[in-house]
Amino acid sequence: MIMRRLLSKIAICVLILCPPLIDVVSATQDATEIVFLTWKPNQPEVWNKLIQAFHDKHPHIKVKRQVCPHSSTEYHAIITQRLKNKDASVDVFLMDVVWPPEFANAGWALDLSSRFPEAEQGKFLAGPISAGIYREKIYGVPCYMAAGLFYYRKDLLEKYHFDPPATWAEMIEQGKTILGGHENPGMVIYSAQFKQYEGLVCNMLEFLRSNGGEILDQKTGQVLLDQAPALEAISFVRNHIIGKAAPRGVVTYEEPESLSLFTQGKTIFHRNWPYAWAVANDPEKSTVSGKVGVGTLPAFKGHGHVATLGGWHFGINAFSRHQEAAWQFIRHMTSKESQKALALKAGLAPTRKSVYEDPAIQQKMPHLIAFLPSFKNAVSRPLSPIYPMISQELQRFFSAAIVHKNEALPSMAHASAVRLKKLLELEAMIAR
Ligand code: GLC
Repeated sequence: MIMRRLLSKIAICVLILCPPLIDVVSATQDATEIVFLTWKPNQPEVWNKLIQAFHDKHPHIKVKRQVCPHSSTEYHAIITQRLKNKDASVDVFLMDVVWPPEFANAGWALDLSSRFPEAEQGKFLAGPISAGIYREKIYGVPCYMAAGLFYYRKDLLEKYHFDPPATWAEMIEQGKTILGGHENPGMVIYSAQFKQYEGLVCNMLEFLRSNGGEILDQKTGQVLLDQAPALEAISFVRNHIIGKAAPRGVVTYEEPESLSLFTQGKTIFHRNWPYAWAVANDPEKSTVSGKVGVGTLPAFKGHGHVATLGGWHFGINAFSRHQEAAWQFIRHMTSKESQKALALKAGLAPTRKSVYEDPAIQQKMPHLIAFLPSFKNAVSRPLSPIYPMISQELQRFFSAAIVHKNEALPSMAHASAVRLKKLLELEAMIAR
C-alpha cells in the first residue's frame, strides 16, 4: 500500500517535472491515424515542425509518416505498387507534378473538386493548379513548385569579370578560363542531373527546348525527338558536357550528388531546383555559402532560356478510409503559414500567390520573388495518363545517347521516336 502510494507520488512528480514526450495524440484513444507517404526530405526539421503543429491543432488526428527514397522515379515505383493493390493503409501522399493525370485516370487519386473549389484554386499559381487537373477535375493541391535554375560561383565570375553566361557555349568558355587560372585542380565546370531517372528528362528537356527543340507536339501528336534542334542539343550534351564540362560520373548523379559537388566548391556552375539555394547558402552544409549566384539557365545562341516545371502536390488515396482527416492535413500543409515555413526553412518555392507578398519572404528570399516570372513560364513535361511510360522511354534514350557516344545519334533518336509514336497511339486509345 505504502509502496503503491509512493510510486504514484513519484509518477506525479515525474509528470510535473518532465511533461510527456509522447505525442499527445497517440495518448488519445479515439485518435484517427492517417498514413502520409512521402520522400526523404532535404530539410526534415521543417516538415517535422509542420506535422507537430498539425498535431497540436488537431489532437484527434495522428499523422504517421512513411518515408520513401528521395528519387521521384524510385518513389513512383513504390507508391504505384501500393495504389495498384488498392492498399487502403495509405491515406495521403505527395505526387510529382507530372503524376496527377496518371493517378486520376487509374482511379487512385481522389477527386478533390468539391473540397478544393475554383475559388480556392484561384489563390494558387495557375501552372501548378493546371498540373493537378485531369478532365476538368482536380486531384492535387500544390504543395510547392519548382523550376530549373542556374547556380554559379558569384565570387569566381566577379574575379574574372564575367557576367553569368547567356549561352551554353559561353558557360563552357568562361569555365575553361576560370579553371585555367584557378588554384583548385579537381574543379569542374558544370554539374547537374544526368542519371537515368526522371531528373534526366527534366535536364535534357531544358537543353532541347533552349535550342527550339521538343520531344513531341501534344496537339498534333507529332514526335519531334529525332528532328534537328533536338539532335543538336543532345549532341552538345554528349560532346561538350558529359566527361568534359562535367565529370563522367555525372551520369550517375541525381539532385543530391550534383548539389554536393557545388557545395563542396568543386564546380563553377550547377543546375538545380530552387531548394538548392537554401542548402548552398547554409554554412553548416556548404563551403560556398555567400559566394553563390542564381539565375536563369543558359540557352543556345538565338534561343530563349527554358526551365522545366517541377514541384509536388498533395493527393488523397481514393481507397483511404480517412479521407476527411487526410483533407484536414492537406489544408494545414498548404496553408499560407506552412508554405511560408517551407520557403524560409527549406527554400521551397510557394504555390500560394499571397506568400510571395509576405514581407519576410520578400526580405529573406528575394531570389524567389525575382524568379516568379520564370516560375510562371516554366514548361511542363508531356501531360499524359501514361506519362511514366513516356518518361521511361525518354530516360532510356537520353541516357544511352549521352553515355554511348559511339552510337549514331540520329538512328537512336529515330528508333526512340518510333516507340514514342506507339505510346501516343496507346494514349489516344485511353483518352477515347
Ligand atoms: C524535383 C521536381 C520534380 C521532378 C524531380 C526530378 O523533385 O520537383 O518535379 O520530377 O525533381 O528529379
